[in-house]
Amino acid sequence: MTRVVIARDAVEAGDVAGDRLAEVVRAHRRPVLGFATGSTPTTVYRSLARRVREGEVDVAALSGFALDEYVGLPAGHPESYRSVIDRDVVEPLGLRPGAVLVPDGSASRTDEAAREYDDAIRAAGGVHLQLLGIGSNGHIGFNEPGSSLASRTRVKRLSAATRADNARFFDRLDDVPTHCVTQGLGTILEAEELLLLAFGESKAAAVAAAVEGPVSSGCPGSVIQLHPRVTVILDQGAASRLAHREYYEAERVGR
Ligand code: PGA
Repeated sequence: MTRVVIARDAVEAGDVAGDRLAEVVRAHRRPVLGFATGSTPTTVYRSLARRVREGEVDVAALSGFALDEYVGLPAGHPESYRSVIDRDVVEPLGLRPGAVLVPDGSASRTDEAAREYDDAIRAAGGVHLQLLGIGSNGHIGFNEPGSSLASRTRVKRLSAATRADNARFFDRLDDVPTHCVTQGLGTILEAEELLLLAFGESKAAAVAAAVEGPVSSGCPGSVIQLHPRVTVILDQGAASRLAHREYYEAERVGR
């Protein structure tokens, strides 16, 4: 069953997640993490970076894979997920350049590059822990509603809802790319462990559908229910529409 942790706020949630990431890094000779972009994981990366600075965890052997990338942004664009991963993960953790791969959204042969990305994940031995955010429409990675539950890394069109949500990172809605390369739901499910975070009431409906609704391509995040090892870490707002909230809270206290 999905374990649900309801934190006081995003900072506490980031610490709960950072703790687990540090454990996973320490447990493997060559740890492989799956990194998410967007606003949600920033407190997680801050928490992990603090543990690295304080000598609590050594990330010299850490490598990783990002979930997704926009198609068509020029190399070095500040909102490309390559740039975001460098800024939020590679630099603060002091990882070597190339330690974290991001799907290639500029390649003229994007479909082939997407298949090669899946191969690279397998060649690395798979992902030990995959971080996930969730879109207000239920997407994980950029697997929009309607995505096949068995899908692999591939090129997808972004939904109007996602482009509107992400317009805050660009000057104008028209500047938001129309397509992306994203790990598929089948790819994500192959990670050994999933850690999904969500903050704020704007995510509450998607979280309730993902955790308690039917498993359905209508809410791609609901595939987490098919995975044997999942932790969902929420703040109060994101947890506000869960029908079984009291049960999750009691379970946490009783642990
Ligand atoms: P956010 O995006 O973290 O910026 O809210 C999450 C997502 O769209 O998956």
